[in-house]
Parts: sequence; C-alpha cells; structure tokens
Amino acid sequence: MCSVVGYVGHRQSCSLILDGLSRLEYRGYDSSGFACIDTQTRHLGCTKAVGRLSNLVQLLQKEPINGNVGIGHTRWSTHGIPSERNAHPHFDCHKKMAVVHNGIIENYQILKAALQGEGHLFSSDTDTEVIVHVFEQEYAQTESAKEAVLRTVEQLQGAYACVLILEDQPDKLIGIRKSSPLCVGRGKNEMFIASDVLAFSGQVEEVAFFPQETFAFVAADAVEAYDFLGNPVSLFFEKLDALWITAEKEGHEHFMLKEIYEQKSAIYKTVASCSSLGASLWEKSGISSDAMKAIKRIKIIGCGTSWHAGRIAEFFFEETTGISTTAALASEFRYRTFFPESDTLYIAISQSGETADTLEVVRMLRQHGQTVLALTNVASSTLVRECGGFLLTQAGPEMAVASTKAFTTQIAALYWLSQRIAYERGKITQEAFEHAQDALLVAGEFLENGIDSYKHQIFEKLASFYANFETFIFLGRHISYPFALEAALKLKEIAYVFSQAYPAGELKHGPLALVDDQTPVCIFSHPDPAIYQKILSNAQEVASRKGRILSFSFEGQKELQTLSEHSFIFPTIHPHLSVIAMTGVMQILMYAIAKARGCEIDRPRNLAKSVTVE
Ligand code: M6R
Repeated sequence: MCSVVGYVGHRQSCSLILDGLSRLEYRGYDSSGFACIDTQTRHLGCTKAVGRLSNLVQLLQKEPINGNVGIGHTRWSTHGIPSERNAHPHFDCHKKMAVVHNGIIENYQILKAALQGEGHLFSSDTDTEVIVHVFEQEYAQTESAKEAVLRTVEQLQGAYACVLILEDQPDKLIGIRKSSPLCVGRGKNEMFIASDVLAFSGQVEEVAFFPQETFAFVAADAVEAYDFLGNPVSLFFEKLDALWITAEKEGHEHFMLKEIYEQKSAIYKTVASCSSLGASLWEKSGISSDAMKAIKRIKIIGCGTSWHAGRIAEFFFEETTGISTTAALASEFRYRTFFPESDTLYIAISQSGETADTLEVVRMLRQHGQTVLALTNVASSTLVRECGGFLLTQAGPEMAVASTKAFTTQIAALYWLSQRIAYERGKITQEAFEHAQDALLVAGEFLENGIDSYKHQIFEKLASFYANFETFIFLGRHISYPFALEAALKLKEIAYVFSQAYPAGELKHGPLALVDDQTPVCIFSHPDPAIYQKILSNAQEVASRKGRILSFSFEGQKELQTLSEHSFIFPTIHPHLSVIAMTGVMQILMYAIAKARGCEIDRPRNLAKSVTVE
C-alpha cells in the first residue's frame, strides 16, 4: 500500500521524510514524492519520481528543497498508472496546499466531475487529488481549516489516511484518518506523522495512533485532535518498542532469508509468550473461561498467508477440541449472508493487524455483537484496538513482503490455543498440554534442522533446475493441502511462477490432464499412514503420466521417495506439527528458485506488505 510521512519541527524535513519513506517502502514502491514549505520563498516546493525511492533521493540531492515542514509519499498505484503525474503529493488549483494519501476515495469520480464543473483544474488520474480540491473549496468558503476538514470528510467515501500541508498555515500539518492507519511520533519540539511507526526510525520515543474517524492539527510542540463531528479528542502517547524501528538485514542478502532463519526462535518466543499468560489468557482474549467452554463453533478470518494458517488450524481445533472450525477469506466472508450466532468464537488473523479486508469483517462482526479474538504480530495495530481481545505472535518485525516467520508463529499460536482450549474444556490433561507445548518447540527444531540439511543441495543444485519451469502443481491432503496453498503462494509472489495447489484427491477430477514432463508436481506428504497411502496413490497417478515429482516426505515413506525425482525427508512428527517441520525447507526452496530467476524477492512487483485498502 501507499505510505505517508510528514514532519514539522526545527530540522530539515527532507532527509527525515526520505529516511522515513525508505523504511515504509515495503508498503508500496512504484513512485514517490516530497513537498515542503521552502524556507526561502515560503512557498510549497515539490519533487516527484517514478520507480524506486532512490530515484527521488537522487533528484532531491541534485536540487534540494529546504524547509522544516514537509510531507512525503511512496505509492502503490490503484487509480492511475505509476507516473510522475500520478505520484503524490497532489495540489489544489493554486499550488497553495498539498496532500499525500493512503487509501481509496470511492466516490472520487462524482466529486471530481462536480469540482471540475465549478472550475477546478485537475492534474492527475488519481482518486487522491479530489481530497485537496474539496478541501480547497471548503477552506475558501469557511476560512477555517477545522470547518473545512469537517466538510471535506463529510463528502469523502472510502478509506483514507492523509496529511495536508497549507502554505498559509506553515507551522503545522493536518492528519486525517478514516479506516487506514495513521500515527504521530512526538520528539523534542518536533512531530512526525506516518502510516506506520517504522517511519520514525529511532527519531522519537513516543507514539500515538489516530483513532478511527479523527483528524489533528500537528505542530512541532502540540497536537490538537478532533473527531469527525468536531468534538475534541485526546491522542494517547505511548513508548515505542525499539525492536520495531531497527529491523535490519544483519548480513543476510534479503530480509526474507533472515526471517526464514529466525523461525525457530520466533516459535520459541511465541510459545513462551502464550504460556506466560496463564489464567490471564481469558481476560486478554476477551472471552471468559466459562464462555470458552460453551463455544460450539470457531470461525477464522484472514487473507493470504494468514488465511492459510487459519486453514491449517481448522485441523487443530476440530481434532483437539472437538469444536467445528472453518477458516474464511475476509474478502469473501464480508459479502456473504451473515448469520449471527452467540456461541461462535471468531478469530481474526493478520500479521500486520492492518489488512483492510480483515478489519472490515471485524467491524461488521463487532456491530453484530460477536466475540472476536485478534491474532496478530503487531501489538499496536488497529486489529488489536478493534477486537474484543487479542493474542500476539512474537515473530518480531517482518519486512519482506512474503510472509515466513509470521506464518509459522501463527500456526504455533493457533496450535497452542487449540491445546489450551482443549485443556480448559477437559479434553486433555495438564500433562498432555505441557507435552504439546514442548512438541511445538521440537517442531521448530525440525524446521531449522531441515534447512541445515538441505540448503546446500537447494542452492547448489535444485534451485537452478527448478528455476527453468514456468508452471508448478502442488498437492497435499488433510493438513498438508493448506500447506500446499501456502507453498504455491510463495512461489507465485516471489518467483513469478504460475503455481496451483490442489487437494491430492482432486487430481483425477481434472488437474491430472495438466501433468506432463514440463510441470513439476510438488507433493507434500503426511505422517499418518492412512493418509500417506492415499497420497502415494496420487503420486503413482502422476508418475505414470511422466510427471516429475518433488516430494516432502517423512521417514519410512520409501515408496514416495522412490517415485520422486527429488525428495526432502523429515523426521516423523505429529501430523499437526508436520507442517511446521516442512516450512523452512519449503520457504528456502521458493526463495532459492526466485533468486535463481533473478527476482527482487523482498519487494515483489505489484505487491505491498500491508494491504490497507479493500
Ligand atoms: O498482514 P496480514 O497477515 O493481514 O496480510 C495478509 C496477506 O496480505 C499476507 O499474508 C500476504 O498474503 C503475504 N504477504 C503473502 O506472503
């Protein structure tokens, strides 16, 4: 998604804003721009560039604009192609005010037509530009910035986090937030505004989040905030966790590689953090122990990798707690008929806690009085603030667009929660619960051992071989099917290879027609002997059509290993934890294929880390 950064204070805004934008470039990176009130001329100066932020940096190095109040933006285009014309900031007709924006103004075409009818001149194809023209119109009429904001937000439909800069109010910025995240960082006689606290990059120690539907006048020494009805609101400043603002690659070629290697420790931290909750779990999660015992259904909501973790967790909850569980895609769930049920626990999963589709479902569920537990990696996220309770994964900052350690920690937390609920409901003993926690740590060991055992083979031999194929089929059964979905997503997003995951049993119902010697078939086995036998039959169907099998198998599964061109072999482990054991090797393989194909890896084309628009 796009990111916005603003600065008001005593220092030069340009380098601070560019530094902030570089930390947020993961959110969107097809063009960027910077504007500030020039110290000399007292007018707004602006520079924009297409492509990576480094292009903007170069332009500003050649022709600097100096000013203590400025705004900046990196764009991930939704309305209008990536171009200088469409890059933010966007200006009013007289170039006296400018805006940067993250989100989508859904009714921009109607507003734009009306404003053009009144003589406003537009310079871009974006939805964003209407914000500054509506504001310009209202400011001219009311001569009050506060009234103008109130009248502007009344007209805008959609989601937005934006920052306005006005030449005639050169000592402040205006931040406005509806649905998309926006926060303010407080330093010594200076303030930052940004889409994500990462932008503050060690510059501030305190941060406050704009509540839903609020705006604020942010000056160097004060913040004056209001809700959309014009009532004053207080922003609560809290200490910023240093870990979240200092994420570096630490010698790894890519963040993704570093994050793959961090998984064993992230699982350990997640299990330790969950178990340290003790009885306070129920208070934190917003559901009492009694209510937990009465639950009849669990519904999990998420997108992308988080949805895959939820699909995997269906097996944990159903088989361990006996509670019927389904995982739904947030973007689909929202537009289906909703049946409110009092004995259902909803779990909203999101690494970032800022995914718009997931948040919209949460808002709808909460309006219906449903119990929603957030499972997220970011304690300060909107998801935590909007759900009735939360459970945190301890992955630490995940910078690569492709989710890796967020995925394994989500699985670990969901596995832990299923065991904890089973214990609370008297389904398992305390001893069994403790054993399950230990087993999670063992799965983390297996994940890391798998990487150590196979990384040389993968980087030196397999990656260059598999990098030559343009399509892949992934097969799994039972819990290894949603795992196959995740593997296919990884290959698509970082290596740009078309890959399709199927439940292995579906093969003969159609996809078998695709099998030939040009399409590797990656089969994820299962430790359960009965399921393994079925997977083996599917592998035989592939082999007899000259399909090239790459398998992830378990010790003793000799027949599958023999049918495979290559096989990664893992120690036998409980089926629920088998996916964790396979994860490291799967991710390293996809990473190495992407690298062999010369892909960007940490910032795949067309994608953004945090998808804050629907
Ligand atoms: O932050 P979230 O977990 O809500 O993000 C959801 C998806 O956008 C995300 O999992 C995406 O699919 C991954 N980056 C894929 O690796």
